[in-house]
Amino acid sequence: NKKITATCITSMKSEGKKIAMLTAYDYSTARILDASGVDSILIGDSASNVIAGNSTTLPITLEEMIFLTRSVVKGVKRAFVVCDMPFGSYQACPEDGVRSAVRILKETGCDAVKIEGGAPYKATIKRIIETGIPVVGHLGLTPQSVNAFGGYGVRAKDEKEENQLIEDAKMLEEIGCCAIVVEKVPASVGKHAAEAVKIPIIGIGAGPYVDGQVLVVNDMLGMSKDFHPKFLRQYADLQSIITDAVGNYVSDVKDNTFPTLEESY
Ligand code: KIV
Ligand code: NA
Repeated sequence: NKKITATCITSMKSEGKKIAMLTAYDYSTARILDASGVDSILIGDSASNVIAGNSTTLPITLEEMIFLTRSVVKGVKRAFVVCDMPFGSYQACPEDGVRSAVRILKETGCDAVKIEGGAPYKATIKRIIETGIPVVGHLGLTPQSVNAFGGYGVRAKDEKEENQLIEDAKMLEEIGCCAIVVEKVPASVGKHAAEAVKIPIIGIGAGPYVDGQVLVVNDMLGMSKDFHPKFLRQYADLQSIITDAVGNYVSDVKDNTFPTLEESY
């Protein structure tokens, strides 16, 4: 039950151990996930969607990511905690990236940051790693680029984009990333990426031939019923469980069967 570090995560690949990662955005959920054996918890900028109710990840701020990450860190004893660098916090220049990553580590106590993108962010990611901050890369569908991509479709379907993804993965390994998330690409691309580098490829919608998996916790627990991509396996139906529980509570209150005298002082 020792704390999992960046080097532990990287070593899991050569040890043949798959990495199980989930997102979390709050203390209570993070405690449960950590005690349930996840290797890594990501405070994803998917919080913009599932916590803040936005339709993209673009609006969430560095301050908001710091607030959520600080809350998650307090609930975690074992898992490797990674905070997404939000849109705008690193794109302009490497200096912005270093300042934002330093703020995240100082103000939250998390273990690493995650940054979307390959070649254009080489200098930024390199500088952050040189600062002593572990970085997880993110290739394939990078949702902060939704406006450039024109949607959330599968990436790297043609050879040119696949080759670029493999080159980017090699580059991220070379500059010292501890792992790379690869999102929504054909299973063959996930396989080729995992074969091309010694650092773990953590897939989401990237097939079974990668070194680990990540899902958005709200989605895999069935709290976002209108979101059903093919890659999402729903492990629970919390929407139904919460709907039933809340319905029972409401009728107990209306019927005056809650609270009883035993539940009173
Ligand atoms: O923001 C997020 O939740 C993510 C994962 C889906 C990888 O980046
Ligand atoms: Na993200």
